Amino acid sequence: MINEKMTTQLNVQFNKELYSAYLYLGMSAWCANAGYNGAASWFMLQYDEEQMHALKIYNYMLSQGSKIELMSIEKPEMNYASLLNCFQNSLLHEQKMTKSFNKLCDLAIKQKDHTSYGFFQWFLQEQIEEEATVAYIISELNHVDDKNGIFMIDNKLSERNATKQGTTNNAN
Ligand code: FEO
Repeated sequence: MINEKMTTQLNVQFNKELYSAYLYLGMSAWCANAGYNGAASWFMLQYDEEQMHALKIYNYMLSQGSKIELMSIEKPEMNYASLLNCFQNSLLHEQKMTKSFNKLCDLAIKQKDHTSYGFFQWFLQEQIEEEATVAYIISELNHVDDKNGIFMIDNKLSERNATKQGTTNNAN
């Protein structure tokens, strides 16, 4: 059983994961509209993953007998200056999510909630991978200055495997 304060923060984090899914759905739509079909598919998989993250929290809360509170999901940004700008926004968002999980860990430590602390470790590992993957894509995009190069990166992004999260040095 987890206490009320942690329950509130888990509900907030659950909402943040749903917002993440929504943000990436918007990025996928922007990429598709801009003709970046590989990136559109990459962000669509990211959308799936974020929903999975949300459900992971949802199931954890239920397993602990915590009350689920569904809240409004904020409207995400849907306009980006470029493909690079889109991924830069993704990285900024993931950095915020990492901070959010660090805060949850701080709370778990403060409350001696070892169960929740252990639960958050999976997410922190996931954050390392997500930040590194997006940073790698940004660095690739920063190394091209023509449409041809961007097209090649976009093509590579289409190869991302649905069953495996991106790796630290691979855009898949
Ligand atoms: Fe669920 Fe990308 O953080």
